[in-house]
Amino acid sequence: MTTADAARAGEEFLRDMHNRAPEAMSRYVTAHPMADGRTSYQFLAERVAGAQRVLDLGCGDGSLLAVLARGGATGLAGVDVAAGELAVAWARPELADADLHEARAQDLPFADDSFDAVVCHMALMLMADVERVVAETARVLRPGGTLAVAVGRRAAEGSGLELFLKLARPLFAQRPVPPLGDRRTRSRDGLNELLATAGFAPITWEEITLGGSGTPEEVWQTAVEKYYDTMTLAAAEIAALRREFLEHARALTAGESITRGERLAVATTRLLASR
Ligand SMILES: C[S@@+](CC[C@H](N)C(=O)[O-])C[C@H]1O[C@@H](n2cnc3c(N)ncnc32)[C@H](O)[C@@H]1O
Repeated sequence: MTTADAARAGEEFLRDMHNRAPEAMSRYVTAHPMADGRTSYQFLAERVAGAQRVLDLGCGDGSLLAVLARGGATGLAGVDVAAGELAVAWARPELADADLHEARAQDLPFADDSFDAVVCHMALMLMADVERVVAETARVLRPGGTLAVAVGRRAAEGSGLELFLKLARPLFAQRPVPPLGDRRTRSRDGLNELLATAGFAPITWEEITLGGSGTPEEVWQTAVEKYYDTMTLAAAEIAALRREFLEHARALTAGESITRGERLAVATTRLLASR
């Protein structure tokens, strides 16, 4: 398979998953806030506070844009490849004036210097040809504008999500999902290097933990909702995995709660004035 074929397969998979289960991501994010009650949407929106013209890359059902609208931003825009997610965004009253497109972040349908800020919540890390996404972002952002990106991190050590992955990995390997994204987007150094080539200043990197703890059954639910891979498993496989997870989790916690261990990193930077 060529790189272009792999990229197409990855994007097709994501489009299909998000068209089949629109709003799944925003339900997950809303159900798993930080310890202080803020969601990762709110945390990211705070990084671009005061910006009026804001673009969301991979905007999904428009939940982050809705947070920005409630915060007073008026020139909102978003792109996503999944029409099912966009249908939800288009129907939101607070996004009635937003400029939302079914489009790829690699080919943004906006003029140069159109935005004061660009945000991207848990989507850049899934995108193919990320150099092109970053170059397009730099093109549509005004010099001095802010970019704030949230990416997934490895589950915390000893957490419920780490346990789940350990048990699920052999099953996931039998029916692999297409390779998604570029590993560089998930690390501070990798992202810094990528963004520097497009004229961005060194990033600020903040790590946040979401979801607190829950009973083994609650953390099982979190894990099943989190990974695309579980959507490819048969009901009997999920049932067997659940039994195994609950047995291990209960043994580990003696029936008490277990931390979920969901971790995100938020990178914030500015487009340098001279490119
Ligand atoms: C994990 S979801 C996050 C959605 C939203 N940002 C949120 O956090 O609620 C990833 C989103 O990126 C979109 N996506 C993936 N590749 C894309 C691309 N190349 N251009 C635009 N959107 C893309 C998917 O359709 C999906 O809605």
